[in-house]
Parts: sequence; structure tokens; C-alpha cells
Amino acid sequence: MKKLITTLILLLPSIGFASGGIELQHANNDINDKASLKAGAELFVNYCMGCHSANYVRYKRIGQDIGISDEELMKDFMFNTEKVGDTMSVAMDKADSARWFGVTPPDLSVIARARGTDWLYTYFMTFYLDSSRPLGVNNLAFPDVGMPHVLWERQGWQEPVYEEHGGHKVIASLQLIGSKEKAEQYETDVRNLVNFLDYIGEPAKLQRLALGWKVMAFLFIFLIFAIFLKKEYWRDIK
Ligand code: HEC
Repeated sequence: MKKLITTLILLLPSIGFASGGIELQHANNDINDKASLKAGAELFVNYCMGCHSANYVRYKRIGQDIGISDEELMKDFMFNTEKVGDTMSVAMDKADSARWFGVTPPDLSVIARARGTDWLYTYFMTFYLDSSRPLGVNNLAFPDVGMPHVLWERQGWQEPVYEEHGGHKVIASLQLIGSKEKAEQYETDVRNLVNFLDYIGEPAKLQRLALGWKVMAFLFIFLIFAIFLKKEYWRDIK
């Protein structure tokens, strides 16, 4: 038994660092921020849906939740489909994409639940140039990733800075080739994108959170009535 507990304790850190051994950066996203969700949705349809689908999400639902009219949805958000009631599927053939990238880009409907928002944020912050990879890039959160750095125009490229550690060359940090203003804008872009992925992972969360406050308020007001009612009953009994 003791042995089992010691093994579990020793295993814990390795579970925590399942993300390729790097410390995760914080997404700090807020799914109640509708402007951020809308900006994230725009990035998603423009930069991701060439390859990834979100098959469990309907355009219309997004429009209703974030406050985008059907006309605006059709004009700015929908390129593959015609009806606002459609789901966010892609036209790309699965066999083609597997041939091009070696692996089919996964559906992203619930990726935020599978990976967590901090992992996603870190993933988009840590693409770096690596000439040994087929696409010329690698990623700290997802070593040997098969996806290109699709947002490079918005971020610029990052170069790895190496350090010696016990005879091994390891990446100490990433250095951005580009301007500081652009870097700040990119952080906002990634936060918005992760926010959108978080939202589509559970669209009902928006309503659930809003309803939660109403229920709490109701219970609180009800409590005040209950206290007065109790006083009223006990007055005659005492
Ligand atoms: C050119 C095609 C392409 C585009 C565009 C693209 N991806 Fe990918 N993506 C891939 C492929 C291929 C993989 C699988 C990589 C692997 O398994 O090595 C992937 C993997 C991912 C993963 C990791 C999934 C996992 O296994 O956990 C995430 C997250 C992701 N993509 C998000 C995005 C987002 C968000 C965008 C838009 C900003 C985007 N991708 C745009 C091709 C693409």
C-alpha cells in the first residue's frame, strides 16, 4: 500500500506536465465578453475552417448567443454553406487532408474541454521555426505538430533560443521576430480565439451562468420572506 502511494506521488508531476513538459500560459478569457467572442468567431471562420470543422455547432446558435444577425452571419461568417441553420462543417475531403498533412485535422467543437483553455492559449503562443520539420515549424505545447502556423501573419515568426542542460541542447525561450505592438495584438487575437473555442465547447454555459445568478437572487429574496414568516408563526406559540 505504502509503495502504491509513493508511486502515485512520484507520478503526479508527470501527469501535470503532460503538455510536452512546458509550463502553460494563462488564457484569462471571459466567455461573457461578447465582443471578444465575435472577434474569435471571425478568426475561426477565416483561419481555421479551411481545415477544421466544428460539427456540433450551428451558425444560427452562435448568432443568437453572441448577437449577430442572420444577414451578417451569411455575409461575414459563412463561406462553405448557405443556410444559417447549418453546422460549421468543412468542405475539405478527409482523405485529402490526411494526404496533405499526414493526419486529418480534428473537429474542434469540444477541443477546449479536451485540452483546456490554457493549453490552447499556450499552443498558439509557441509555434516556432524549425527547419527539420516538413512544414518548417514546430510547437512547444505540441511537439512535432502536423499543423502549419496559420496565424503567422498576425504574430510574425518566433525563433528558438537554446541553452545547454547536462550536455543536451534545450529550448530556453522563443524570440519573436517582429514588433511589440503586433505581439500585443496577437495576444488579444489568441485570447479571443480561445474564448470562442471555450464557448463552442459548451454554448449553454452562457445561459447557465446567467440563470445561476437569477436563481441565487431568488433564493436570497425567498430567504428573507422565510425568516419573517418564521418570526410570525413563532410569535403566537411562545
Ligand atoms: C492547413 C490546415 C489547418 C488549418 C488552417 C488549421 N489547422 Fe489546426 N490542425 C491541422 C492539423 C493537420 C492538425 C493535426 C496535427 C497533428 O496531429 O499533428 C491540427 C491540430 C490542431 C489542434 C490540436 C488538436 C489536438 O489534437 O489536440 C488545435 C487545437 C488546432 N489545430 C486548432 C486550430 C485553430 C484554432 C485554427 C485556426 C486558427 C487551426 N487549427 C487552423 C491543420 C490545420
